[in-house]
Amino acid sequence: MFGNLERKTAMRSKVVFSGIQPTGTIHIGNYFGAIKQWVAGQDDAENIFCLVDMHALTVPQDPAVLAVQIIDTATLLLAAGIDPAKSRLYVQSDVREHAELTWYLSCVGSVGQLNRMTQFKEKSEAQKGEVRVGLFTYPVLMAADILLYRTTHVPVGEDQKQHIELTRDLALRFNATYGEVFVLPEATVPAAGARIMGLDDPTKKMSKSAPGSYHAVGVLDAPDQIRKTVMAAQTDSGREIRGDSTRPGVTNLLGIYMAATGRTQSEAEAHFANARGYGDLKKEIVDILVETLRPIRERYDELVRDRAVVREVLQRAAEQLRPTARATTDAVKRAMGVGS
Ligand code: AMP
Ligand code: TRP
Repeated sequence: MFGNLERKTAMRSKVVFSGIQPTGTIHIGNYFGAIKQWVAGQDDAENIFCLVDMHALTVPQDPAVLAVQIIDTATLLLAAGIDPAKSRLYVQSDVREHAELTWYLSCVGSVGQLNRMTQFKEKSEAQKGEVRVGLFTYPVLMAADILLYRTTHVPVGEDQKQHIELTRDLALRFNATYGEVFVLPEATVPAAGARIMGLDDPTKKMSKSAPGSYHAVGVLDAPDQIRKTVMAAQTDSGREIRGDSTRPGVTNLLGIYMAATGRTQSEAEAHFANARGYGDLKKEIVDILVETLRPIRERYDELVRDRAVVREVLQRAAEQLRPTARATTDAVKRAMGVGS
């Protein structure tokens, strides 16, 4: 359908942007929901991946720990296959236009809109002390991240879909009020693995901050740890390996199996039709996860020895991104009639 030139132009106009908070333990939910897609799509678009350290500040953080986790998370993403020759991997606060555009967008969005964000409700309820303003305006910063770079596609897990809808809404409102400045992005959510649940409790989303060593499989977990966590996973009564809403434990395990193997639900169920029980499913998942994660852990162990190299990747990417971020912010300022 496309000639060569058209194909190149079409490719160039696809801009992929996504972000991850550099806090807690990166787990298989992050990997199958987001990171795996980022790595796989690197050849067909312009790719930008952001360590959202400013988002991390919306809940209390220890500065010394956060500083180390930013570099560690960057190292993990490189180990997982983010290639600096194909993608820009950088730290949010290194490009100050994220903060600047957030202000302008917060003068476009409404409090009512932000009140409807389910993640804010969950996170603010979990907060023991006071709830920070930044936790409430978090989705506006996320919209700024995306809109700064004329992003067309945002690969994320299911939980972020509502924030992308808000981003589109802010962009539409802005364009309607001040003229066409923003490109409308869309969320891309994987067919399997978009919402992996806790292994200790399949009714709760697998999360970086949930306590308990049997909750999540970390991307960098050693094989023994993976085995312990998966074998201890909560299942349901019965033995049949079939995914449905009455069996959240088995459904979650099947989901992990599907995300790791690329099989569909019916293929996965057919594969386990003669299994003797949930133990068979768990054992197979252990083997697949160990093999999937092993190269990442090995590469991480190499890369982690040289933090200077990782820092250089991050700084170079930020430098390359600044002109676009500046141009968008200047266009926004002109459209809104501010500045001298
Ligand atoms: P976060 O851990 O909130 O920084 O999320 C980083 C990325 O991982 C986002 O695209 C999330 O949608 C995705 N993600 C987080 N938790 C899960 C999960 N349990 N299942 C699938 N995707 C997830
Ligand atoms: N809010 C996202 C999360 O917690 C992280 C994020 C911040 C993000 N900015 C983004 C994801 C922009 C996609 C695009 O998972």
